[in-house]
Amino acid sequence: MMRGIVTVAISLLSLEKVSAILPTAAIDVKCTDESCPPITLLASQASFGIWPEMSAENNEPMIPGLPPADNPLLCLDVAQPQQPSSQKFVLVVPRGSCTFEQKAINAAKLGASGIIIFGNLASRYALNTTQMEINGNMNAPGMNDVIYPKEFYDYDCKMASAEIPMSQLSFARLPYDYMHNDPFLTGTAAQGNLCAAKTSAFDEKCPSHRCLLTGDIRDDNQMMKACCAWDLHVWLYKDDNITSDVTANLAIPAFYITMEEANDLLNKMQMHQVTVTLYRRYYPAYNISSILIWALGVFVAALASWMSASEYRSSDKGHSEQGEEMEPMDRRFSSNHESERSSPPTSFRSEESLELEAGHACGFILFSSAGLLVLFFFKIYNVVKLFYAFGCSGAIFQIIFYPLFHRASFKVGFRDRILFTTNFLELGAVSFVQVVAVLVSYGLGAVWAFIAFTHRHPDEIVFFWVMQDIMGACMCIMFLSTMKLNSIKVAAILLVAAFFYDIFFVFVTPYLTKGGKSIMVDVATSGGPPTADPAWCEKYPDDPNCQGGDPLPMLFTIPRLFDYSGGSSLLGLGDIVLPGLLLSFGARYDAAKRFIGSASRDGRTPPANCTGQTRNYFPALVVAYAVGLAMANFAVYAMKMGQPALLYLVPCCLGTMSYLGWKRGELNELWNTPKVLSTCDEILYGPIQQHTEDTNTEENGTNLRPIT
Ligand SMILES: *[C@@H]1O[C@H](CO)[C@@H](O)[C@H](O)[C@H]1NC(C)=O
Ligand SMILES: *[C@@H]1O[C@H](CO)[C@@H](O)[C@H](O)[C@H]1NC(C)=O
Repeated sequence: MMRGIVTVAISLLSLEKVSAILPTAAIDVKCTDESCPPITLLASQASFGIWPEMSAENNEPMIPGLPPADNPLLCLDVAQPQQPSSQKFVLVVPRGSCTFEQKAINAAKLGASGIIIFGNLASRYALNTTQMEINGNMNAPGMNDVIYPKEFYDYDCKMASAEIPMSQLSFARLPYDYMHNDPFLTGTAAQGNLCAAKTSAFDEKCPSHRCLLTGDIRDDNQMMKACCAWDLHVWLYKDDNITSDVTANLAIPAFYITMEEANDLLNKMQMHQVTVTLYRRYYPAYNISSILIWALGVFVAALASWMSASEYRSSDKGHSEQGEEMEPMDRRFSSNHESERSSPPTSFRSEESLELEAGHACGFILFSSAGLLVLFFFKIYNVVKLFYAFGCSGAIFQIIFYPLFHRASFKVGFRDRILFTTNFLELGAVSFVQVVAVLVSYGLGAVWAFIAFTHRHPDEIVFFWVMQDIMGACMCIMFLSTMKLNSIKVAAILLVAAFFYDIFFVFVTPYLTKGGKSIMVDVATSGGPPTADPAWCEKYPDDPNCQGGDPLPMLFTIPRLFDYSGGSSLLGLGDIVLPGLLLSFGARYDAAKRFIGSASRDGRTPPANCTGQTRNYFPALVVAYAVGLAMANFAVYAMKMGQPALLYLVPCCLGTMSYLGWKRGELNELWNTPKVLSTCDEILYGPIQQHTEDTNTEENGTNLRPIT
């Protein structure tokens, strides 16, 4: 089961966060005479106009100014456009009444070099012109013509709400008399906010410190309900009614700042002579995390395949140190079993490994496809996380903690003892060190799973992603120790099948699914990015339509460093273990040849195809893997989209092995199972039936079985 899920080969992705509106720009506000401390305001940007350069030092400071008194909202068309003045200035304009782009066009016509639009309470109210026309009161709107702010979009009564006496409010200027009403609805209770006066801990409950009137009149026209206003960044979208050539000629940047930020800016402008610098926040075009994930991938692929050949290598050593049957450490532990040999407790006996045949390749593809489709249609991502945490806990037990504690206990002279013997899960004798290692491994797995289930973006937590990478590495080592691939023929069938499988599920499925979704990307990101509007998700991240986008755990993940937008670089474990099968084949072939070589020097007959030690495949394969992964990484960067990494890895690795085999005249042997491998196995273990008995009675045979 686990194996199938792990090999749902997920590709190389670079995931950026999409669930919120990111303030991608910033404004540095400085006093010209240094009489006040400088401040930096975060700002969101517009889909029209130009974007300023990255970083403050690449942009000029400008003088902020208010719009003309006869056009305070910049909604009236500017009749006589002016040339940009030599003294560059930015207009600071309230939101409301007309579109953002309309304001920006008018600002440009007034000669401004930029526009900062700020949120305000008044912009959330409007008059219903349809209704006014129906009622024939175009020039004298009444209270009933006001369109009030919308719940959830503009305010949320769950954060804070209060009933405000109508007598305190003014409706003299409809839709909203901000001069009169704003002070009663802004700030703390001490500052006169009526809304805050009636809510305990208003400052904490209502981050905007502002309330909007809901139009909900109660108690016989005595009171109106007011609720806590949202004050978040918004994207300044284009006005579709403005023709594209006007938009194209708009050459100033447009920024949006929140009500709270505007408060700071306007205060500073009133009290001091200030300059503002508009700039895009810095982020690296090529993130260092892509290099780190590449290094991690290459390291784990090399390590896991190297370790899979450890049996042959340690036997090789054993031969040269003839006579010494066991290292002292092991003798102390396994006092009576010769079968222990010198192998560390991590190594897997060949009986537990599965030699892959051509049929397995088809099975793998069918199984993985089925798994992927089940995930895509039933969206049981949490089940996967749970299984994965469980399987990985077993893996870190076998690869890290048991060997570690086992060795440490010898170092400190602790004598391990059998605690109990059980037939449950064929565990057999269970020792004290094993119990401790199990507790630590599964404890860590449980903490990891807990974080996965309780945090929205768990990959921001260092423990979580480091743990996930360690677990993934252990899974790869387990997989390659269990699955053996012993011929280029099978490798070619398997890798080429996986290659097409990957391409099919990444690139072809968008043409087959309803929403044009790539099944692989959708599953890899637990259902793809949120479907709801980002502005909505920023307010209500728990909304079901705002969920998703977090990657499934079967991959290596490294957060993007030095990048305010967050996100991670990801590498699927399938991209490690599938090419890893070939790397492991190369490593074992090399080791087997050396072993046979040393065995023959001991007086055994050298096999006909023994070719000496110099012609190794493994180092070349690791280089080929590294090159392939680097190419995939570069493709992610160049095309700005996830890549099926097998697309690059399979040709590199398979090509290298075949080419070297052909050049060394060993291709024929490599194509079918090389004799050295089977000879080696026979020398090591003898005919297989003989040995099976041995493992069953093995004292610590428990931990050698893969858990899944
Ligand atoms: C404006 O008034 C019309 C007529 O009463 C009504 O149908 C419409 O829903 C109102 N619009 C808004 C946004 O309230
Ligand atoms: C665009 O024009 C249409 C028709 O003139 C109008 O109904 C609509 O409200 C306008 N949209 C905006 C955003 O001004």
